[in-house]
Amino acid sequence: MKILVVGGGGREHAIIKALKKSPRVTEIFAAPGNGGIAADAVCTGIGAKDLEGFTKFAQENAIDFAVVAPDDPLVLGAVDMLEAVGIPCFGPNKAAAILEGSKVFSKDLMKKYNIPTAEYNVFDDMEEALKYLQTAPIPTVVKADGLALGKGVTVAMTREEAVAAVKECMEDKVFGESGSHIVIEEFLTGPEVSVLSFTDGNVVIPMVSSMDHKRVGDGDVGPNTGGMGTVAPNPYYTEAVAKECMETIFLPTMKAMNAEGRTFKGCLYFGLMLTEKGPKVIEYNCRFGDPETQVVLPLLESDLLTVMEATAQGKLAETEVKFADKHACCVVLASNGYPKAYQSGYPITIPADLDAEVYVAGAKLDGDVLKTSGGRVLGVTAIGDTLEEAIEKAYAQAANVTFENAYCRRDIGARALRAKEEVK
Ligand code: AMP
Ligand code: GLY
Repeated sequence: MKILVVGGGGREHAIIKALKKSPRVTEIFAAPGNGGIAADAVCTGIGAKDLEGFTKFAQENAIDFAVVAPDDPLVLGAVDMLEAVGIPCFGPNKAAAILEGSKVFSKDLMKKYNIPTAEYNVFDDMEEALKYLQTAPIPTVVKADGLALGKGVTVAMTREEAVAAVKECMEDKVFGESGSHIVIEEFLTGPEVSVLSFTDGNVVIPMVSSMDHKRVGDGDVGPNTGGMGTVAPNPYYTEAVAKECMETIFLPTMKAMNAEGRTFKGCLYFGLMLTEKGPKVIEYNCRFGDPETQVVLPLLESDLLTVMEATAQGKLAETEVKFADKHACCVVLASNGYPKAYQSGYPITIPADLDAEVYVAGAKLDGDVLKTSGGRVLGVTAIGDTLEEAIEKAYAQAANVTFENAYCRRDIGARALRAKEEVK
């Protein structure tokens, strides 16, 4: 089968490497792909937001199945467009992708169907929002309604910060139209867990849980990034928590979307916070997480293509989705300076006998030399029988991957190791 994967980051590289293991896959194309993905797929260079471009490509090249990985094309309706020309897809249609595309939609859905989440208010008038903030409990959280390149959320520790965040969204429009509606919500505390799931509208099959490390610096300090590393499974996500999440969050969300006439098929990502009052939804994403995918898919023992096809066809209940009883750790190597300004264009050396997977995010080919081109350059994922072993191996192998100006956090997985003691 000929497969098209839309996207060009580390997540897409992990999806492509997993798909390549399927005996039924003959060729994989990426739109756009990147310099590292080029080792595993044909990179078309067609942009991930160029819906017409990749739909035309898929038709002309007789693509049998498409996987739309990033949020933007999903929210813009990429799956609808591909399906309209007869190409089966993995990913939610536009009506369902709104679950990530609009925070107002997702908050109202949770309220209507009693799905636990932070208390909130919606504003489309700045004066009203500012008035509300005069007496609102602090800390508080300000969220732009739409997609904002993952930057539309401000956790405000002071009233001034909250006011500034509201003005940024509604007056300065730094997130464009995304910020003309905002959500101001209750500040929650507790460990965070990412749970990606396969769902076809009939069942929800959670994948192995994971823990992201969003801040740039060791000890969770400094600005938020796209994610500096991940481990799976997440020790806070015990069997009891998993059962509660299935009953109070996962199935109710699937049913709520069905009831709204927006059946969700694809990867539904639950960003959860385990509060003293039980697990609550921090956010929904309508896609695989990055870099969660880089630790989750390497643990998948079942054939990814088969699972994705079953999801698209509504046959997940009859399909085996099995994960290895092991641990994975992904350490992201970034360009020093990220998420602010950084230099790139440096050659990357990856030993051929590296005992780990490398998922390339921000690199391009210059002739046949792979050079850095992004903030997050690549992720090194190692598997172990224990969390300790996975972490140790990921760092040992990451040390063999070199480029000038490289930066990584030194404490990926440290919180998870401590958690193992806490939840014993
Ligand atoms: P997001 O960009 O939506 O992934 O959110 C970024 C981060 O903001 C999350 O991973 C949480 O750590 C934090 N966050 C979002 N909503 C809340 C909330 N209601 N209370 C506390 N922290 C939050
Ligand atoms: N790692 C967080 C996300 O993909 O949104």
